[in-house]
Order: sequence, then structure tokens, then C-alpha cells
Amino acid sequence: MSISHIRNFCIIAHIDHGKSTLADRLLEITGTVTRREMKDQILDQMDLERERGITIKLAPVRMQWQGYQLNLIDTPGHVDFTYEVSRSLAAVEGAILLVDATQGIEAQTLANLHLAQKHNLVIIPVINKIDLPAADVERVAQEIIKLLQCRRDDIIAISAKTGKNVEKVLRSVINKIHPPQNNDFSSQALVFDSFFDSYRGVVVYVRVFSGSISAGEKLNFLQTGSQAEALEVGCFRPRMSKTDKLQTGEIGYIVTNLKNINQAKVGDTITTDTTSKVEPLPGYEEVKPMVFAGIYPKEGDDFQRLREAIEKLKLNDAALTFSVENSPALGVGFRCGFLGMLHLEIFQQRLQREYNISVVTTVPSVAYQVYLRSGEKVVIKSPQEFPRPEEIDKVEEPIMKVEIFTPAKYIGNIMKMVVKRRGEYIETEYLDEDRVILHYFLPLNSLLVDFYDTLKGVSAGFASLNYEFFAYQVCDIVKLDILVAGEKAEALSTLTYTDEAYQAGRRIVDSLKEAIPRQLFEIKIQAVLGGKIIASSRIPPLRKDVTAKLYGGDVTRKRKLLEKQKQGKKKMQKIGSVDIPPEAFLSVFKR
Ligand code: GTP
Repeated sequence: MSISHIRNFCIIAHIDHGKSTLADRLLEITGTVTRREMKDQILDQMDLERERGITIKLAPVRMQWQGYQLNLIDTPGHVDFTYEVSRSLAAVEGAILLVDATQGIEAQTLANLHLAQKHNLVIIPVINKIDLPAADVERVAQEIIKLLQCRRDDIIAISAKTGKNVEKVLRSVINKIHPPQNNDFSSQALVFDSFFDSYRGVVVYVRVFSGSISAGEKLNFLQTGSQAEALEVGCFRPRMSKTDKLQTGEIGYIVTNLKNINQAKVGDTITTDTTSKVEPLPGYEEVKPMVFAGIYPKEGDDFQRLREAIEKLKLNDAALTFSVENSPALGVGFRCGFLGMLHLEIFQQRLQREYNISVVTTVPSVAYQVYLRSGEKVVIKSPQEFPRPEEIDKVEEPIMKVEIFTPAKYIGNIMKMVVKRRGEYIETEYLDEDRVILHYFLPLNSLLVDFYDTLKGVSAGFASLNYEFFAYQVCDIVKLDILVAGEKAEALSTLTYTDEAYQAGRRIVDSLKEAIPRQLFEIKIQAVLGGKIIASSRIPPLRKDVTAKLYGGDVTRKRKLLEKQKQGKKKMQKIGSVDIPPEAFLSVFKR
């Protein structure tokens, strides 16, 4: 295939605006997949993706149409997976910007567009779902014109569902998106994804920027320094399909003889050239998990299975981190790091579905940077690691830059809610008279607890949200200890803002009171902040009626017995190891 007949592109959109449906139509029109083979959303290969109708992993596919080779990479829309989007963008020359005709531009539309513009991609604006009665094509067209400074007739209005005008999109891809540049130097291929196949080894997804790669050639990974052999090369139609070689401009896969995914890092450059000095292509920023939670097996003996499952999931999920963690209450488990709440949720569901393991998940928390008086800096991912107050110089938390898209009439509600969650207002930007973007700085902490649901609640479901990491900033975080019967229950301690400590203490103490069963002695539960008790409650004892067996007799004998009982109780309390059932821990962890 001559390079002038290759087009590489992706589709970017807000979640649910119809990317996968459009990809299905493109596969159909180009005859890549026959109607008979067509399952809805064919590129969403994970069961979970298909069921929830969301794309999690990027998926490349090659189509042949009217003498052209068209390489499409389907990308996820949710903000947790932005890194997947930016990887796809680095491998293509153009993007279809898909906007729902009933909704208009939303938070991720804009975020993904900005990413695409950073990569200097040609943008093809497309309005989708014009078959719906609520479609307002002209209003959405105006939004797009304002955003892209394009002409009205640059915008194609389609229905990905019925297929109306979808061919025009393909024509536009061919006419407007540039073919790849013809570079005749040594081979250079960008790894934009990789996975481990237990039968074949590590498979990398590549975009070849110069030269070519064939099966049997030796591969050098420029960043990791790994060396490997190309056992097979090929492209996606959409299943993996073997070809002789991958040449400049093409997107495809290489099956390598590597056994460890860490040797084939996403963002690395592969070359077959060992003689001259080949420059690595610009890679990507490595993704860092932002949200941490304890993951424990529900059945105590499932630890080994859990470990194996997590290790397997990790093979295809570069962003996931994990380390062993011990909890007196929940047993042995893992502290895992995620990109965001959706990533965490999907991880849990995959454990359940693909490995049949139910887990208990603790309240997610962010990673704090703690500067110690000794000059050292430590990263804290759980309350148990938090240093003693006297050791701490300052604590920093991650702050996000947040954009909220909303119809103007919900501004008041949203502002109230965001301020309550420690948002710092930056500005309001008007998309048109009645649609705005509110800009805020917001602690990541606030995003973790029901933020999205509450936002949807106060905006009748209309607001959408995008966020990105901004910076670490000093915060006033303290560790709240919980004493049960006078003993510190380390596993129950939490981190909280100082000015919310009283509330948090009250909440924990109350929920423990509900969750710990009464025992033969009184149990005191206390929340302690810097040595001071800020909330407490008591669980009254089960009273054993020691006098029940006593018929008659004089009153002093009765009193003696009661006295003895009291002493016994005292003793029990002193040595008192209170049995705290796991549900009690969960009542605290699950906010
Ligand atoms: P993510 O993968 O989660 O980012 O979503 P997506 O953008 O891939 O959206 P998807 O293709 O899953 O479509 C979302 C919903 O919109 C589905 O229920 C589709 O059936 C529906 N949909 C997509 N295109 C059209 C269209 O042209 N008309 C109508 N009526 N519905 C459509």
C-alpha cells in the first residue's frame, strides 16, 4: 500500500456520544466486518465494556476502502482513562470530533479536543444522533463553529445508528486528514499499547513512523533497553491478522518473545537498527495512580487467589499499582492505586467476574506528600502510614483543576455544592447564553466521595465534569485515632481535615456504636485528636443477672454478689480485648 493511501485517525467524544456505534458503522460500510458478524460495539471486546456500554481500553482496527488503508483507534471517553486517549492521539494524524446532537459539547468533548490540538491533529467535526426527535443540529453546529472557528459546511451531521451520512465521514477522513509522512530512515515504531498473552508472550501495538518491521527481525526497545525478536507482525481486522511486515505509516501489532510486560513499556520506541543511533520518539508521561484503597478478600483464605488475580490484571493495566497490606480487622490484602473512581470500580468488577473473587474495599484515599522535620519527604497512601504530629513539618494534598459544564440555571446549585467541598472558584466561561463552564480548583479528596452523583443530582443530570491534576498544595490534614475500650484501634484511624475532625469523629464513633455487639462489659469508644478526646460513646454491657438464682436470703448476700460481678467486669474491661466484627470496620470505611 502506497503511503499516500494510508489514513490514521481516531474518534474523540464525550462519554455516550456514540463513538463505538460510529466505529461499528465504519466497519460495516468498509466491509471489514460483515453484517452477520456484527455484534453491537464490536470494538468493546471486554464483556464488561459491552454490558456497561463504555469503552475502557483503546482498540485499533484496519479497514480497506476504495483503495485506501484506514486505521482507526477507538478510544475511551471517561476522564479516568484520558491517558489511553493521549496514547491513541500520538499514533494518528487526525480525529473525528463526535458530538451528540441532543447534548452538545460536554466536558470530555473539550478535554479530548484540547489533547488532539496539542498533537496538531486535523479535526473533523461530526454531529451524531440526528435521528433523535430531541436533536438540535443547528444549536450544536453553532457551538462547534465557535469552538473550532470552522465553517458550517465543515460539519457533517450523521446518525451512527441508522448509518445516515456515515459515508461522508469516511470521505472526509480521506480528503482532509494528511497521509503519514514518508520517512526513509531506520525503523522507528511507537509502542502505544501492550498486553501479555499467556500463550504467545508480550504483544505490542505500534505505529511505525519510519522504516519497516518484519517477522523474524531483532527488536530494540530504546528506553528500557530490552531486546526481543518479532515472532509475528500483523494488523487488526478487527481480530489480529498476520501480515508480512509493518511499514512506515502503518498501525499494527508485533508478537514478541518477551515474557515480562515491563520490558515493553507503553510509550517506548522500537527499532530494528542496531548500528546507527536511532532517536526515541517522544513518549508519554507515565501515568500515576491518584486514588488508593485497601482491597481485601471477603473470604479469608482467598488471599492467594486474590494475589494471582491482581497480578494478572496488572499485566494489562499499566496504571494499576499494588502492595501487600495487613489489617488486624480485614486480614491480609493489598493497597492498590487507581487513576480514579471508575478505574477502581472496574477493577473490583473484573475481580468478581473474571476471577470470581469478592473483595472488601476500604474508603479510597488520595496520596499525601508529607514533609518531615528531618527534611525527608514521604508519600502517604493510608492513615496507618501517617507520621506522628511532632515529626511533621507540612502535609500536601493533590489539587485538581476542574471544569463543570452546565446549563446556566444550575449555576447557583453547583456553586453551593462545590464550595461546601472546598472548591476554589476560578472563573465562569459562557459557551452561549445558557450553557456555561465553571472552572474550579478542588482537592482530589472531594472528588472521591459522591461528587459526581451529587453534581448530577443538583443539575437534574445535565452537568458534566472534567478534571486534571493541577498541583500538590499544603493542607490541614490530621490523623484521627479511635480508641476501643481504651486501646488504640490502628485499623480504624482515618485522615481528616482539622475543621472536619469533630464531625468525622462523631460519625465514626456513632457508627461503631451501632456495629459493635454488646458484650459483658461496657465498651467505650473514643475519637482522639492530638491526645484530646473529641467524641465518645459507650456500648452498655449485657447485664447478666447473677442474682437470678438467689431465692430469698438476706440482702447483704445479694449485694455481695453484685459487688463481685462489678469487680469481674472491671477485670474484663482491663484485659478487655473487644471483638470487633468486620462489619464494624466497614461501617467506618464505607462513608
Ligand atoms: P463510550 O464508549 O462509553 O465512550 O461511549 P460511546 O461514545 O462509544 O457511545 P456508544 O456508541 O456506546 O453510544 C451510546 C448510546 O447512544 C448507545 O445506546 C447507542 O445505541 C446510542 N447511539 C449512538 N449513536 C446513535 C445515533 O446515531 N442515534 C441514536 N438514536 N442513538 C445512538
